Amino acid sequence: MEGGARVVHPAVEPLSYLIGTWKGTGEGGFPTISSFSYGEELTFTHPGNKKPVIAYSQKTWKLNSGEPMHAESGYWRPKPDGTIEVVIAQSTGLVEIQKGTYDAEKKEINLQSELVGNASKVKEISRIFTLVNEELTYVVEMATNLTSRQPHLKASLKKL
Ligand code: HEM
Repeated sequence: MEGGARVVHPAVEPLSYLIGTWKGTGEGGFPTISSFSYGEELTFTHPGNKKPVIAYSQKTWKLNSGEPMHAESGYWRPKPDGTIEVVIAQSTGLVEIQKGTYDAEKKEINLQSELVGNASKVKEISRIFTLVNEELTYVVEMATNLTSRQPHLKASLKKL
């Protein structure tokens, strides 16, 4: 064997900066709802180097009371060619298959839903994650049956 023990699968290496637990706050809105703010914690884990997968779990809460809000979890599957596939199950029952690309230098990940399932209103979801000054920020946009694609969420998180 060459070199030392590998801890990250080569496909995961370009996104290894994600691995860990991130905590912060976000703001939500949409043309049809009142805006709101929330606390959020999300965790990316890579259990060993045998599989090209990052496991993802997220939970959110009301900032004033700590009461749980939305939660979701899934798997991120980066490919060596710079594309990425993400599956997410939401606490609302909605499921997403996201396809997109990552830029390892810019530390930016762009996802666009290929499938949104079991959703009463949502037609389309996009998610952009960027690392800026060691803060992980994201923007989520969605389109519903009544509203064209608009921002729903933005948040900024620091690694714990
Ligand atoms: C409302 C979808 C994430 C909090 C909504 C609505 C939809 C939706 C379809 C109703 C909009 C309308 O009636 O026109 C989604 C999707 C998400 C997501 C697809 C993830 C991709 C979140 C998160 C939070 C959140 C993370 C909280 C931290 C809310 C709140 C409302 C709302 C407070 C308004 C009141 C309500 O319906 O409960 N969301 N949401 N959402 N969402 Fe989200």
